[in-house]
Amino acid sequence: MNRRYRVAVVGATGMVGETFIKVLQERAFPISKIAFFASSRSVGKTIDFQGNTYPVFELTEHSFDEGFDFALFSAGGETSLKFAPIAAQKGAVVIDNSSAWRMKKEIPLVVPECNGDILTKEHTLIANPNCSTIQSVVPLKVIDDLFGLKRVIYSSYQAVSGSGYKGVFDLERGKKGEAPNFYAKPIYENCFPHIDDFLDSGYTKEEKKMMDETRKILNLPDLSVTATCVRIPVMVGHSVSMNVECVRPIDLDLLKKAFQEHQGIVFYDGKSYPTPKDVAGDDLVHVGRLRRDESTHHALNLWVVADNVRKGAATNAIQIAEHMIKEGLR
Ligand code: A2P
Repeated sequence: MNRRYRVAVVGATGMVGETFIKVLQERAFPISKIAFFASSRSVGKTIDFQGNTYPVFELTEHSFDEGFDFALFSAGGETSLKFAPIAAQKGAVVIDNSSAWRMKKEIPLVVPECNGDILTKEHTLIANPNCSTIQSVVPLKVIDDLFGLKRVIYSSYQAVSGSGYKGVFDLERGKKGEAPNFYAKPIYENCFPHIDDFLDSGYTKEEKKMMDETRKILNLPDLSVTATCVRIPVMVGHSVSMNVECVRPIDLDLLKKAFQEHQGIVFYDGKSYPTPKDVAGDDLVHVGRLRRDESTHHALNLWVVADNVRKGAATNAIQIAEHMIKEGLR
């Protein structure tokens, strides 16, 4: 019989946590035991999973004592910094959705279809990348393999669900004419180039994450990459407009064929293009508006849309676990 795995979901009451639970069931992840953890605020809540009802436990230092094979974390950076090492030390492979561990040298930052091959049996803490970065590196990896990446310019249009329920509630409040609780400015009928905190450089942390994480995942430490990240009043689905300059001449037909044959990409040819509403609820990266950038050599533009809560967070984390199982690493 195929092996089944003991799984802990940390941050189970949050937006990504709830999506972990949905996606685990949809993909029939091979589970022998599951447990759900959140803060003390959630004690008393229950979660339905595969026809059974489970309690939500408060996350403590002893939560992992009974033994887990995988611990899926999405409970914020501070919680991850404190509890991920404990879970790993007790034998679980931690797949962490926060930004806490992503840029640490010894921690793999993984999008399975791009760099799943870096994972080994020794890895017990794996970082799940930033949502906009995940959907961007999937087509960028294809372009890099064919023509070599020289420079990437990102402009993102990001949904409020990227901020979890806090963002969703602010958009709903705005619709009712109420002031925001979480964002610095109203998001309803508005947009702002301000995602996460500002850094001294003038970039925001979200922009820095896209730049740094792209270089790390693609293993291109010297790649020239810049980003402007914008929050828009959409519930689910991030869009990224990309301008990409390559080292070698671009064969557009070859690239189209590679996108069409890629298992994780839906390619939109000609005048068709994806929108957040089209992609919400699926696990693929949608690519359209592919065209030459006529202003310079070896350059192109493309438009990339994905469900930020699924492929941009929960699904990618679960795909990391599935990859480890498939490769015999667990
Ligand atoms: P809780 O619902 O009990 O606050 P979101 O990103 O949608 O805001 O969700 C955050 C998730 O992280 C929630 O499940 C939240 O639980 C959980 N969480 C936040 N702080 C802690 C903490 N200190 N310990 C455990 N879970 C936490």
